[in-house]
Amino acid sequence: MEINHLLKRGADMIGDREYGNPVLEATMVLEKLLDVDKVYIYTHGKETVSGDIADKFMTIMEKRAEGYPIQYIIGKKEFMGLDFHVREGVLIPRNDTEILVEYILEYMDERHGNETIDILELGIGSGAISLSIAHYNRRVRIHGVDLHSIPLEVAEENKARLSLDNVSFHQGDLFQGIEGLEMDGRFHIIVSNPPYIPSDDMGTLQEEIREYEPTDALDGGGDGLDFYRRIIPQSRDYLIEEGLLIFEMGYDQGEEIERMMMDEGFKDIGILRDLQGLDRVIYGTMG
Ligand SMILES: C[S@@+](CC[C@H](N)C(=O)[O-])C[C@H]1O[C@@H](n2cnc3c(N)ncnc32)[C@H](O)[C@@H]1O
Repeated sequence: MEINHLLKRGADMIGDREYGNPVLEATMVLEKLLDVDKVYIYTHGKETVSGDIADKFMTIMEKRAEGYPIQYIIGKKEFMGLDFHVREGVLIPRNDTEILVEYILEYMDERHGNETIDILELGIGSGAISLSIAHYNRRVRIHGVDLHSIPLEVAEENKARLSLDNVSFHQGDLFQGIEGLEMDGRFHIIVSNPPYIPSDDMGTLQEEIREYEPTDALDGGGDGLDFYRRIIPQSRDYLIEEGLLIFEMGYDQGEEIERMMMDEGFKDIGILRDLQGLDRVIYGTMG
């Protein structure tokens, strides 16, 4: 079958889905199967592909039609201009999370100039946050923790692909993951994009997320705030004075989290909005 016809059939198969871009997604799948780039696909529309490739393509598009995330199919997601490998069992990094990384990069430049900065990330997933910070600022030393093995494996792969030696990953339950490490001192920054969906809302998430992304990366307990309740008080023992605590959060969780941070003596609390204009990131410094 010709590339153009195959693309049309694939795009038609997923055209009814509420989310996604059918033509782009069909093109991405074919790119992967043929091991070529987009330009090749666009300029070789009349080329015939083998029956084997056409069959594989249709099977994948059927899976996509059932809601299987395109990022797991092609095995990657772009974040902060870098390609991160992803697979089932690891959260697909979201572009909204880039505002958190951008804030940290600017904060480090303004606040710490040429100093070496120690950062702790709790809940690394694919490693997108830690590794993009480490890529864009080589002076940082980052420790990242996750409870689960698949995120740790994927994050290690991404670290190797990006050739970064200023990040190390550890398995554990939040701060337990760094117990026993030989540390020079405390952290300048603690960052986390923890699970923050209230348990009762898990069933209302769009199918792509609900059915295929890891529940443990999403479910934040009854009101979604379990992780903030644990991390905020404990972070006092791990941050330097004036150190930064910064979280991603749900759009309607700012008020509660701000109160928790203030109760623990954090100051200069601020909230950043995401690409849709919704509250998404909260930060404060330890007083
Ligand atoms: C929302 S995901 C964030 C992943 C990644 N940082 C990102 O922004 O794409 C939350 C991560 O926290 C991890 N996690 C869940 N419970 C944890 C715990 N008790 N200790 C450490 N990590 C945990 C999950 O496995 C998941 O990778």
